[in-house]
Amino acid sequence: MPDLPPLTLYLAAPRGFCAGVDRAIKIVEMALQKWGPPVYVRHEIVHNRFVVDALRAQGAVFVEELSECPDDRPVVFSAHGVPKSVPAEAADRRMIAVDATCPLVTKVHNEAARHHEAGTQMIYIGHAGHPETVGTMGQLPPGEVLLVETVEDVARLQVRDPAKLAFITQTTLSVDDTAGIAAALKARFPLIHAPAHDDICYATTNRQAAVKAVAPKIDALLVIGAPNSSNSRRLVEVGSAAGCGYSMLIQRAADIDWRALTGVRAIGLTAGASAPEVLVNEVIDAFRTRFAVTVEQVETAVEDIEFKVPRILREPA
Ligand code: F3S
Repeated sequence: MPDLPPLTLYLAAPRGFCAGVDRAIKIVEMALQKWGPPVYVRHEIVHNRFVVDALRAQGAVFVEELSECPDDRPVVFSAHGVPKSVPAEAADRRMIAVDATCPLVTKVHNEAARHHEAGTQMIYIGHAGHPETVGTMGQLPPGEVLLVETVEDVARLQVRDPAKLAFITQTTLSVDDTAGIAAALKARFPLIHAPAHDDICYATTNRQAAVKAVAPKIDALLVIGAPNSSNSRRLVEVGSAAGCGYSMLIQRAADIDWRALTGVRAIGLTAGASAPEVLVNEVIDAFRTRFAVTVEQVETAVEDIEFKVPRILREPA
């Protein structure tokens, strides 16, 4: 075999599964053990095809709406959260429903409800159409939450009373972009109530910080994640903003554009919060077939957060 060109692969850490994703997958697995297949799951439990296919093989049935589930089988709600109307419908139909909403998303739901009860109008910084956005805005009656996606949206906002306003955010946004939108909100509405602690979750924040630490060392960044995964797409953007000329989202090793990587000597690799480590190893193995690879880990934080599964799964059947 000819000599392979040298390449340093910088692994960003933390990367991959967060505590909310871990818990959501465990919930589906435990539901399958407790009630046997099929267990219905409303929406992809987490945004990763590899994870979804593995659960499907064990007997999970993925649907988009509750109307597609029979009354007599358990249903799991995805980690992104659901509008209030969904568990209400499940209760009306006397279904067994298990909520896999990440507790950090539930925390934002509770914030929204608290403000609403106090008569405060809510502004939500998030991406239109994302299931987390739909779920969080759906905690309050239609029209009660105003969505902003950009600084320009802030200028267009029409609010009931500038003195009774609060904002909350999606958990998987870009830390830097969101800071810009929050600053615009505070400039236009000086009395607006901001979240006590950032709604962007620890996992999103840590993965973005790790990419920023890796960026100065690399010629290109690969982010393993699904195209519909918000936090993964933000990692690609953070890589570009930090100066990576080539910052690309891939679902797995087969997606690597080797021609685009001709001549690179240092690659950064990370994975979104819903991408399993097995896919990271698959990508490293693919690089080893073409390069003499040295792997270096760049660790900017250590995570030890774990969330309990809902009580219904901890009780005997
Ligand atoms: Fe939860 Fe953040 Fe993961 S909101 S699901 S810990 S990306």
